[in-house]
Amino acid sequence: MESNPSDAPAIEVSQLTRTFRVYKKRPGFQGALRGLLHREYETVAAVDGVSFQVARGELVGFLGPNGAGKTTTLKMLAGLLYPTAGQARVLGHVPWERADAYRRQFALVMGQKNQLWWDLPARESLELNARIYGIPQARFDRTVAELTEMLDVREKLSVSVRELSLGERMKMELIASLLHRPQILFLDEPTIGLDVVSQQTVREFLRHHNATQKTTILLTSHYMEDIHALCERVIIIDHGRISFDGRLEEVVDRFADFKLITIEYDPAPGRVGENLQRFGEVIEQTTGRIKLKVKRARVIAVCQELLDQFPVRDIDIEEAPIEDVIRQMFGR
Ligand SMILES: Nc1ncnc2c1ncn2[C@@H]1O[C@H](COP(=O)(O)OP(=O)(O)O)[C@@H](O)[C@H]1O
Ligand SMILES: [Mg+2]
Repeated sequence: MESNPSDAPAIEVSQLTRTFRVYKKRPGFQGALRGLLHREYETVAAVDGVSFQVARGELVGFLGPNGAGKTTTLKMLAGLLYPTAGQARVLGHVPWERADAYRRQFALVMGQKNQLWWDLPARESLELNARIYGIPQARFDRTVAELTEMLDVREKLSVSVRELSLGERMKMELIASLLHRPQILFLDEPTIGLDVVSQQTVREFLRHHNATQKTTILLTSHYMEDIHALCERVIIIDHGRISFDGRLEEVVDRFADFKLITIEYDPAPGRVGENLQRFGEVIEQTTGRIKLKVKRARVIAVCQELLDQFPVRDIDIEEAPIEDVIRQMFGR
C-alpha cells in the first residue's frame, strides 16, 4: 500500500478526464430518420483535465450547472468509473483500483439514489450495511444511537425505508454511509428535494460532523444555503473544466458583473413615476427610496446622475449577493 503522510492532501486530482461516447442527434425529422438508419456517435468530455487538491479535514463545495461534470468526477473519486486520462489519489489510494483498504475509508452519498433496502425497516437496512463492513455490534449500536439522535430520526428506525419521508430516508442514507466512519465523504446533492427543516438538520449535522470528526468532505449542492453555511472554499466546474477554485467570497469579486445601489431622497411633491430603467434593473421604488441593480462598469456614472437628479439624503452601494452571482454564472 502507498504511504500517505498525514500532512499530504486527502484528495489529489491531476488532469482527470472522462469522455463518453454518445449518440449524435440530428436536428429535425429528416435528421431523426437518417439517424435511425445510420447511427453516428460523438465523444463528449464530461470531465476535461480537472486538477485540484483537498486538504485533510477540509469541506469544499463543488459547484457547477447541470451537466458540468460534478457527478462524473465524484464517481471517479469513488472508484465507480474509470477515467479516460489523468490521475487521482485519495488518501494515497488510486480510487478505481478499488482496494478494500480504500473502500473502508470513504463514502459516496447521492441524493438522487437510494442505497438502502427499500422493503426493510431502516434499522435492518443499517445492520446489513454494518455486516458488509464488518462493524462490531457494540460500535454499531453506539453509532446508530448517536447519529439517529443528532439527525432526529431515532423513532423511525422500525419504519420500512419505503415508508420514510424523503428527508428521513436521506438521513438514514447518511447514517448508513457513516457506519464505517469514513475519513472522506463525497456528497452529491444530499439535500436535494428535502423539506426546509430536514435540509437545515442535514446541513447542521454535516457541519458538526466535519468539525468534530475532521472528515474531509467534497459536497455538491444546488442550494446556496448549504454552500453558504458549510463551505469556505468552492471549486466551480463548467463544461468539464474548473473555472474557479478559491474562497467563496472571492466568487463575487471575480464574477459579479453588477452592484446594488440604494438611494434615499426627499421626495418632491408631484414628482412621481420616474423612469429608472435607463440606469439598470429596478429592484425597489417607493416614495423616497430607490434600489437599482447596475452593471459594474456603470456604477460611478449612475451614482453621479442619481446625485444630480434627486435630493439624495443617503446612498449605499452593495456587492451583488452570491446567490445571484452564481445563478448568473450558471444561467446559460
Ligand atoms: N454514462 C454516461 N453516458 C453518456 N454521457 C454521460 C454519462 N454520464 C454523464 N454523461 C454526460 O456527462 C456530462 C456531465 O454529467 P454529470 O457529471 O452528471 O454532470 P453534473 O453532475 O455536473 O450535472 C453531461 O453532459 C452528461 O450528459
Ligand atoms: Mg450531478
